[in-house]
Amino acid sequence: MEATWNHATVLLNEAVDALFNDGPQAFAGAEDGTYVDATFGRGGHSRLLLSRLSPQGRLIAFDKDPQAVAHAQSIADPRFSIRHQGFAQLSELPPASVSGLLMDIGVSSPQIDDPQRGFSFRFDGPLDMRMDTTRGQSVAQWLATAELSQITEVIREYGEERYAGPIAKAIAARRQERGPISTTGELAQLVADTVKTREPGQNPATRTFQAFRIFINAELEELQQALEASLHVLQPGGRLVVISFHSLEDRIVKQFITTHSREVYDRRTPFAAPRPLKLRSLGRIRPGSAEVAANPRARSAIMRVAQRTDA
Ligand SMILES: C[S@@+](CC[C@H](N)C(=O)[O-])C[C@H]1O[C@@H](n2cnc3c(N)ncnc32)[C@H](O)[C@@H]1O
Repeated sequence: MEATWNHATVLLNEAVDALFNDGPQAFAGAEDGTYVDATFGRGGHSRLLLSRLSPQGRLIAFDKDPQAVAHAQSIADPRFSIRHQGFAQLSELPPASVSGLLMDIGVSSPQIDDPQRGFSFRFDGPLDMRMDTTRGQSVAQWLATAELSQITEVIREYGEERYAGPIAKAIAARRQERGPISTTGELAQLVADTVKTREPGQNPATRTFQAFRIFINAELEELQQALEASLHVLQPGGRLVVISFHSLEDRIVKQFITTHSREVYDRRTPFAAPRPLKLRSLGRIRPGSAEVAANPRARSAIMRVAQRTDA
């Protein structure tokens, strides 16, 4: 059953070129390097990367999701290995050992399209939303005991939802009256009953589902940790390529790259040299209209590329 849900890889050639190329050509020695695909998913980027590596090259992949890891086991290639870990664990790789690091963050299509994973308001299923189903709490378990103030804050911060207060109150009231919410269908209906107006074409529950998913998977915290870890594991000249799908993630990536690619002078010692730059921004890329037409999920993607300096 699960095999019927595929993932259409976003910015496939663009991401692999960004890891490998200087202009149209691969840079010298690119194919012998060690690369990290921090978000294996269904391996679209990983497979193309592997096809470009020499026998000396290596690809280390990460994914939190046991189903993604099970798919990765089908790649029988001695240059490839998969780790069932969150990408914040990147920090465990040896310092300056990585030629290129790719993060294609967010959810995969198989996660969204499988009702049993509980990510989507379009299907009824258990209200889970964990990427790593082997640990942690599901959204239903968290909502069963969470404080009203925490539920409100999560919906407001991670969903940027102006009706966070009324939605959180409705969740708490329903919990008192009839017990906790346990399915995606119940949550979607409760939000639709609470939020009467919405942007055209948007389901009223979109922002609440996004908020709970980001919270339960600690997505923004792990992204920040992985970005910090990239500075330790990338070798001088190594590339950082991050594809994100909403503004909260992209803001973190953009700020991180800007912070580390700007000269900072210490005002207390005005004649001292500026703090050395750790990154050089190589720009950002959006999917073209043909890719968006073929894969509407690519619509909101933004890819940012930076290069580790030798500081
Ligand atoms: C958009 S998909 C990646 C798709 C992949 N590039 C492909 O072409 O098939 C994102 C994947 O990242 C994984 N993921 C999200 N956050 C993660 C984290 N903090 N650590 C490890 N994996 C994560 C998800 O489980 C999902 O499989």
